[in-house]
Amino acid sequence: MLDLLRKRRSVRRFLERPIEAEKVELLIEALLRSPSSKGRNPWEFIIVTDPEQRAKLAAAKPRGGSFVANAPLAIVVCADPDKCDVWVEDCSIAAIILQLAALELGLGSCWSQIRKRNHIDGDPSSDYLCQQLNLPDRYEVEAIIGIGYPLEEKAGHDKNSLAYNKIHRNVFGS
Ligand SMILES: Cc1cc2nc3c(=O)[nH]c(=O)nc-3n(C[C@H](O)[C@H](O)[C@H](O)COP(=O)(O)O)c2cc1C
Repeated sequence: MLDLLRKRRSVRRFLERPIEAEKVELLIEALLRSPSSKGRNPWEFIIVTDPEQRAKLAAAKPRGGSFVANAPLAIVVCADPDKCDVWVEDCSIAAIILQLAALELGLGSCWSQIRKRNHIDGDPSSDYLCQQLNLPDRYEVEAIIGIGYPLEEKAGHDKNSLAYNKIHRNVFGS
């Protein structure tokens, strides 16, 4: 796991090569193994490969999400907020587990933030996505994870660049 974390970077440019069905199944398994508060599993995951549908996902917000259109696989991470008060945490954990599983399988990925973002028309990006994805209105979309074979090579962060000043022992500031 540490070796994996030492390599981890966000990848936003992908080869056109589709992801093998077996790898998609492994990613789905990783998602469903995520822990969630009280085991309530409030999340739902929408696996999107259709290019037209990916283009609609990419249009969910005006900035920072366009890479999703060119990712061979996009996974929408959403939840029914009525099922759990900490659905944001549950969704975030599932999303990062997905990203690490993708890395393990030789894939790159990047998170596109949806929660608290707005569509170009001013409405919440999540509402726009509920319409595009036939999700019931009460659902909330947390993020879209774009995944594919990397077209860009990025080195992991150098150990010397890590923010060790953010680590505190016993009390803050020491
Ligand atoms: C909660 C969260 C939201 C993010 N939202 C976006 C986003 O909307 N668009 C994007 O291109 N990258 C997004 N990222 C990726 C970050 O920009 C990236 O992790 C950060 O710049 C550090 O780069 P690295 O992942 O390569 O270490 C997000 C990451 C996190 C954890």
